[in-house]
Formats: sequence, structure tokens, C-alpha cells
Amino acid sequence: MNLFVTGGAGFIGSNFIRYVLSNFPEVSVINYDKLTYAGNLKNLAGVDEKYSDRYRFFKGDICSKDSVSEIINGKVPDVLINFAAETHVDRSIIDSDIFIQTNVIGTKSLLDVSLQFKVPKYIQISTDEVYGSLGETGQFTETSPLKPNSPYSASKAASDLLSLSYFNTYDQPVIITRCSNNYGPFQFPEKLIPLLVSNAMEDKELPVYGDGMNVRDWIYVDDHSSALMEVILKGRPGEVYNIGGNCEKENITIAREILNSLSKPENLIKFVKDRPGHDRRYAIDFSKMKNEFGWEPVTSFDIGLSKTIEWYSSNKDWLQNVRSGEYIEYYEKNYGNRL
Ligand code: NAD
Ligand code: TYD
Repeated sequence: MNLFVTGGAGFIGSNFIRYVLSNFPEVSVINYDKLTYAGNLKNLAGVDEKYSDRYRFFKGDICSKDSVSEIINGKVPDVLINFAAETHVDRSIIDSDIFIQTNVIGTKSLLDVSLQFKVPKYIQISTDEVYGSLGETGQFTETSPLKPNSPYSASKAASDLLSLSYFNTYDQPVIITRCSNNYGPFQFPEKLIPLLVSNAMEDKELPVYGDGMNVRDWIYVDDHSSALMEVILKGRPGEVYNIGGNCEKENITIAREILNSLSKPENLIKFVKDRPGHDRRYAIDFSKMKNEFGWEPVTSFDIGLSKTIEWYSSNKDWLQNVRSGEYIEYYEKNYGNRL
């Protein structure tokens, strides 16, 4: 099976590529990524050597139909899986132009190219954030209404609707997945868990928005990858699949657990001004994944968090590079001739 992965140099995409190449010897991967500030080939260091016969990287923008077509035309993939996106809510609040460009226009461009070349399966990686915010009870199901509150989640909801419209209008075999908050190695340190871990390691303050009582459902990134492989292999076109971690946590609890694991004092926690439009609670019902595929997340938060902290503690160079932008020089030097 040939996978065309977009956004594979980001956090989830790079973990997914490693997961697939190491667990599915019959799968080949093309990774197509623009390498924005969030895309980093160091996330895939060693992969091209280890899997040289099954992995190739191309630098490019999903918004360019010509560039995507050129690669797909050479070999039509069995599955196109679109991870490429602008992903940080706080950035979308400051300026959402690039979110609309990449997440909406970029998705449409991929849908058009997939339709043109009759790609047999198109998977749109979406998020539980499209459902908006929950009160203290209830969970999102696949039929919950879309009520996005941030420019990021609105752009993701738009791309979901566009993707489903291509199924309904053109019979394009599109599937949407909506996962909850991921954490694990290689996550850019602007997101909650890597930010708090890296700040705690350096004895810096841990910024917690508002009262710290906002709740997210957390999933270890490898569990997301295993769910996606189920969807790739068995998912039904036109369907939406929720993917969750069965792990609701308040942000303040996470901050305390991180400090506790690193033996740092709780007074490093700093309550800061709340995010505008901050969704209060996400919780996901993934019984469809469970019933159709027997899939469930297997990594407990304790184990996942300790693996994540261990990874950030042992990869301070990665953190330093990501923060300094040195990784851009690295990929130009090492991969310049392949971009
Ligand atoms: P990320 O920000 O770490 O990575 C995004 C990747 O997309 C980067 O490699 C970037 O270079 C690439 N990219 C951006 N614009 C591009 C473009 N125009 N053309 C080609 N590549 C481009 O994001 P992530 O956290 O890995 O998220 C991946 C996907 O999963 C996104 O679609 C996101 O909405 C979704 N998602 C994320 C989470 C989460 O908790 N991180 C949860 C649910 C769903
Ligand atoms: P984030 O990692 O940005 O993911 P998302 O907003 O997409 O769910 O944030 C997760 C939660 O952590 C969210 O409730 C906002 C909160 N948060 C903080 O309290 N402090 C921070 O510095 C960040 C980045 C997030």
C-alpha cells in the first residue's frame, strides 16, 4: 500500500510515519510538507536511511495543485492522508489568514487533485475542536453539531464540510477523523504539554490560562496513529470517526503532574490572562471506532506523560533547535538537493 502523507514533518504526521513504517512492512510513504515553522525534518531523522526503499520526502505546499499533481501523477497513491494544517489556536486568534489559506484552500486543492487522479481513499485529519465547547456533562459524538469557536477550529470545520461535500457531490471516497488533544515526542513547544514540560525543566513559570479548569481529552500520539491505521484499512467512505483518549484532565492538574514528575515546586504555576473564546471542555465518544474496529487507546496518561517527559529531557538539542530555528538551516544543508 502506498500512502501520500501531507504534513508528515509535523508532530502527529512524523509520529504516524514512524509508526507505520515500523509496524507495516508492506506500506510505503511519500511525505509532502511545506516545512513551516512547525514542520521539522529532524522529527524524522534517520527515517530516510532506515526505510530508504519505502520512504521519500518532498517539500511543497498543499495549496499548489501543480506541485501535488506532479508527484501524484508519477504514482497514484492508494490513500492520501492530510495532516497538513496550521494548528495553534493562539496563533489563529492573532492572525487567521494563513489558517484559511492552508486549512481551507489547501484542503480543497488536495480534494481536487485526489478527484482528478481518482485516489481510492482520502482521509482528512480533523479535530474534536470543530464541535465547540461542552458544559460539565456530555460527550461529542460524530453527529454532534459543528460549533467551532476559534478561527482555527472554524477553518477545520470548513475543511470537514468541504471534504464531505466532495463525497456527496462527486462520490469521492472521503473519510474524516476527529481526534482529541494529542501529546508525545516531537510536539512543538507552543502547545500545552511540551510548553509546560520544557518550562518546568528550565525552572521557568508555567503559564496557565484563566482559572486552569478547562478540560481536554488527552491521547498519546501513538494511539492516534493506531486508530488512523484502522481507518485507513477498514474505514468506510463518507463517514466521520471520532478518536479519543478516554482521559479528561483539567489543565491545572496537568501542570501539577508535570511539576511533580520533575520534582519542581508548584509555585512555578502562573495563572495568566485567559484565551479569548476559550473552549471550556472537550470530551469524546469514540464508541464508533470501538464498535466497528475494536479500537481503543492503550496508553494511560501516567505512562504517556512519563514517556513524553523522558523524551523532552533526553532531547534538549531538539528543543533548542526548534526554538532557535536552527532546524531550518539543518534541513537546507542536509536535504537541499531533495527539496
Ligand atoms: P503541526 O503544527 O505539528 O504540523 C503541521 C504540519 O503541516 C507541519 O509539518 C507543517 O510544515 C505542515 N504544513 C503546514 N502548512 C502546510 C502547507 N500549506 N503545505 C504542506 N504542509 C504544510 O500539527 P499537528 O499537531 O501534527 O497536527 C496535524 C493534524 O492533526 C492537523 O490537521 C491538526 O488539525 C490535526 N489535529 C491535531 C491535534 C493535536 O492535538 N495536535 C488533535 C486533533 C487533530
Ligand atoms: P493547546 O495545547 O493550545 O491545545 P488546544 O487549545 O488546541 O486544545 O491548549 C490546551 C489547553 O491548555 C487549552 O485549554 C489552553 C490551555 N493552555 C494554557 O493554559 N496555557 C498555555 O500556555 C497554552 C499554550 C495552553
